Amino acid sequence: MKLKQLTEKVCSISKEVGTFIKQESKKLNIRDIEVKSKNSLVTYVDKSAEKKLVDLLSEVIPHSGFIAEEGTSMKKGETYNWVIDPLDGTTNFIHGIPAYCVSIALLKKSELILGVIYEPNQKELFYAWKNGGAYLNGKSISVSPTKNMSDALLATGFPYYDYKKLEAYMDVLTWLMHNSRGIRRIGSAALDLAYVACGRFDGFYEYSLNPWDVAAGALIIKEAGGSVTDFKSGENYLFGKEILASNLLLKRELINKIKNTF
Ligand code: IPD
Ligand code: CA
Ligand code: CA
Repeated sequence: MKLKQLTEKVCSISKEVGTFIKQESKKLNIRDIEVKSKNSLVTYVDKSAEKKLVDLLSEVIPHSGFIAEEGTSMKKGETYNWVIDPLDGTTNFIHGIPAYCVSIALLKKSELILGVIYEPNQKELFYAWKNGGAYLNGKSISVSPTKNMSDALLATGFPYYDYKKLEAYMDVLTWLMHNSRGIRRIGSAALDLAYVACGRFDGFYEYSLNPWDVAAGALIIKEAGGSVTDFKSGENYLFGKEILASNLLLKRELINKIKNTF
C-alpha cells in the first residue's frame, strides 16, 4: 500500500476513535477517574480508545508493533511500530475543556513515516506522510512566516510532576514573556505541535514528554516546513523527553536561549 493511502486509512481510524472519545465525554463520571501518579490521570475512555486503535491498526499492518501510552499492546514490530496516544489532553477531557486529540504515528525502523492528529471537537484532522507534505482537513498547511520574536505566539507545557528543570524552565518562560507576543498552555502537546504545523503557533517547547505525545506532531511539522529538535539542537526529540519546535526563522533564537539555559 502507498504511504498516502495508508495515511488516509489511519485518518479514518483516528476520526472513528476521536468521535467515540467525544461521545463518551458527555457520560464521564467522577468515579471514572483513576490516578496513575501525581497529576497523571486516566479514564476508561483513554483505555478503550487505545484498545480500539490497537485492534484497527493491527489490521492495517498485521505484523506491526506498538508504543502506546496505556500499554494495551507491548508487541514490538520488526519493521513497523505505531506510536499512539489515544487521548492527548486527558486532564482537559476530564475537566470538560474541549482541547484534546488522538495522536497516531508510524515508525519504519527508527524513521517516522506518517503522522495523524484528530481533534474531535473542532473536527480538525492534521496529517502528513514522509515527503508528502502536511495537511489540515484536506488543505496543505505550512508553518508560520513570523521572523521576529516580538511577533511570535508560543506554546508550552508547564511542568506538573517533574520539577528538576523548573529553574531553567522559568528562566526561558520569563525571557519569552518579555520578548514574545505571548505564551499559551493548551494542555495537549500533540495539539500544540499541530498548531505549530499550521502556523497558529510560531513555536512550542516542553520537557518530560513521551514519544506518544510528540511523534505524530513532529512529522507533521517537518512536512509543513518547520524545525523539530531536542533542547541541544539535536535529533533526540522522540525518546529524549524534550522538544523544541518552530518555524525555521525563529529556530536559531529559540534554540540559543534554550540550549544556553537548560
Ligand atoms: C499530556 C499533555 C500535556 C502535557 C503532558 C502530557 P496526556 O498528555 O500532552 O499537554 O503537558 O506532558 O503528558 O497525559 O493528556 O496524554
Ligand atoms: Ca499525551
Ligand atoms: Ca494520553
